[in-house]
Amino acid sequence: MRLVHAHWRHYSGDPKTRKRSLQFLLGVLCLILLTASTALAQLGGDPERGAALYRAKGCPGCHMIRGSGGTLGPDLSFEGEVPGHDAAWHRRHLADPRSTSPGSTMPAFNLKPADAVDLIAFLTSRKRLAEDRALTPDLSRRFAALGTTLAGLRARVEKAHARGRNVDDLTVRLSQAWTHVGTVEEMVRRQNVVGARKEIQAAEDTATALTRTLDDFAAQLRQRIYLAAGTVAMILFGCWVLIRKIRLLTLEWNAEEAQREARRARGRKGPAAPEPAAPEGEG
Ligand code: HEC
Repeated sequence: MRLVHAHWRHYSGDPKTRKRSLQFLLGVLCLILLTASTALAQLGGDPERGAALYRAKGCPGCHMIRGSGGTLGPDLSFEGEVPGHDAAWHRRHLADPRSTSPGSTMPAFNLKPADAVDLIAFLTSRKRLAEDRALTPDLSRRFAALGTTLAGLRARVEKAHARGRNVDDLTVRLSQAWTHVGTVEEMVRRQNVVGARKEIQAAEDTATALTRTLDDFAAQLRQRIYLAAGTVAMILFGCWVLIRKIRLLTLEWNAEEAQREARRARGRKGPAAPEPAAPEGEG
C-alpha cells in the first residue's frame, strides 16, 4: 500500500511519471479484480441455498446427515471430507450416479447448473466440527458402561440357556449389541462422533430390551416355582387327609370287630363276663 501511496505522490510530477503511475495503478486494480473473481469462483455457490435444494429434491429420503434421514444411501454428514469427491465428481455423480459408482441405485438428478453449484457447495461443506473429533466425556462414560452391561447380559443369557430356555433370539440380539459396540470403535477411529453417538444409543436400546426380556424370564421362572411348590403342598395335604381318614376308618372297624367278638363270647359263656371297653375313636 505504501508503494501505491508513493506512486500517487508522483501523480503531480512530470507527465511521463504520471503515465507510468496510472499504468501501475491499473495493473494493481486488475490484479485485485482477478483475485476476487477467482475467490468467488472457488467459493462456487451458496451452501445454504444448497441445503434447501437438498431437502426439496428428496435427498434426505435416502441419506442421513447428522443423525436424520434415510439409510438407503451412505451417510453424508462428512461428505466434504471424502477423498476424490470434489465438485467435478459430484457434478458427474448427480447427473449419472452409475458413471462414478457402478451399480448405484441412486436416481440421476437433472439439475439446473446454478442449482447444481449450490447443492455441491452444500455437499462439499459437510465436514467434521471440532466436537466431532473425540467422544464427549458423557459418551465415553456411556460407552464404557455398555461393556459392563453387555458382559452381565451375556452371563444372564448363558444362565437362561443352562436352565433349558430357548435363547436363540436373545443371542442374536446380544451379538447385534456387540456389533454396535464394534461400530462405535470404528466411528471413533474415523472421528465420527455423530455416528458413534447413534451406535451407542442403538446398543443401549438393545441392551434395555434384552434386560426386559431376561427380567420377564426370571418372573416367569418364579411364577413356575411358586406354582410347583403350591401343587406339591396341595398334594401333601391331600395325602395327609386321606391317611387320617383311612386310619380313623380302620380304628372304627377294629372297634366294631372287637364288640362283635365280645358279643359272640358272651353268647357262648353266659352273661357273667363284663363287656370290654370299646377303644376310643383315636389313639
Ligand atoms: C433412492 C435413494 C437415493 C436418493 C433419493 C438419493 N441418493 Fe444419493 N446415493 C444413494 C445410494 C444408494 C448411493 C450409493 C451409491 C452411489 O455412490 O451412487 C448414493 C450416494 C450418494 C453420494 C456419494 C456418497 C459417498 O460418499 O459415497 C452422494 C454425495 C449423494 N448420494 C448425494 C445425493 C444427493 C445430493 C441427493 C439428492 C439430490 C441424493 N443423493 C439422493 C441413494 C440415493
